[in-house]
Amino acid sequence: MSPVSAASYRGVNPQSRTVRKRRNPSVPDSRVPRRRRFLVCEPRHFAVQYAINPWMRPGEPVDVIRALDQWQALVDTYRAHGHTVESVNPVPGLPDMVFAANAAVVVEGRVFGSLFHAPERRPESVPYEAWFKAEGFEVYHPESVCEGEGDLVPAGRWILAGTGFRTTREAHREAQEFFGVPVIGLTLVDPYFYHLDTALFVLDDQGDGNIAYYPEAFSPGSREVLARLYPDAVIATREDAMAFGLNSVCDGRHVFVPPGATALTDQLADRGYVPVPVDLSEFHKAGGGIKCCTQEIRETRS
Ligand code: ARG
Repeated sequence: MSPVSAASYRGVNPQSRTVRKRRNPSVPDSRVPRRRRFLVCEPRHFAVQYAINPWMRPGEPVDVIRALDQWQALVDTYRAHGHTVESVNPVPGLPDMVFAANAAVVVEGRVFGSLFHAPERRPESVPYEAWFKAEGFEVYHPESVCEGEGDLVPAGRWILAGTGFRTTREAHREAQEFFGVPVIGLTLVDPYFYHLDTALFVLDDQGDGNIAYYPEAFSPGSREVLARLYPDAVIATREDAMAFGLNSVCDGRHVFVPPGATALTDQLADRGYVPVPVDLSEFHKAGGGIKCCTQEIRETRS
């Protein structure tokens, strides 16, 4: 994927609510976005029908019209910022299928599929696999529980991998064998942050790279690992994390971030990123946010 110059983005989206507050004048405006290919799934059948994480309260009404509007705004915002968005058809009876990130992880065009922890979500792997096959990708079936990019987060030279609630250590080993990329296991300890992508996101995947994360979501040893790998990371507060701020998507320059993650948004702007608020509050009722709704198809080495 070719880098897109920052200049080529100017004026692309006049309606964008891009936030530029508190830019630190000592940080040069040099963050360069890279065009992404995203896979999403329309929330036509979205609902909270079972509880598999602490955010979910079955019977809590979901406003499907509002969810559809919020989701459409996310898709429109990605497109307005130059990204390609494709979608898989939603299947009735699979209310969490909107969370496309969990269906697979794709690195250098290789697709490592999913094996969901919850029986309610297991059937989701089938329509996603059909989509990948129709697009010419082969799909590897993990033997152990693995929830795609929910827990396997490609970060340039390595893959950060969460375990503790869903994806297993065994799946980390399988992923390392499959991709031939070092997989760094991290243990999650707070049930509110049951997937790695609720506790951490990648800001920069070139060179040593950088991330934003919420340290308390990790075991003490995993915290130390993150501190060693990313001495310059953006450290988020619990408030940011509870607002799904660590479930953000960064293209290298723009950070698609929930509006409630205010302290994080300020820190990102200070570091020279351009926060782009996108409100997916209806999906928080199911324990999901921006990244959960977004699968990235990585076709080339980053
Ligand atoms: N209700 C879904 C679950 O608990 C939400 C998944 C959110 N996805 C994510 N990538 N964190 O499985």
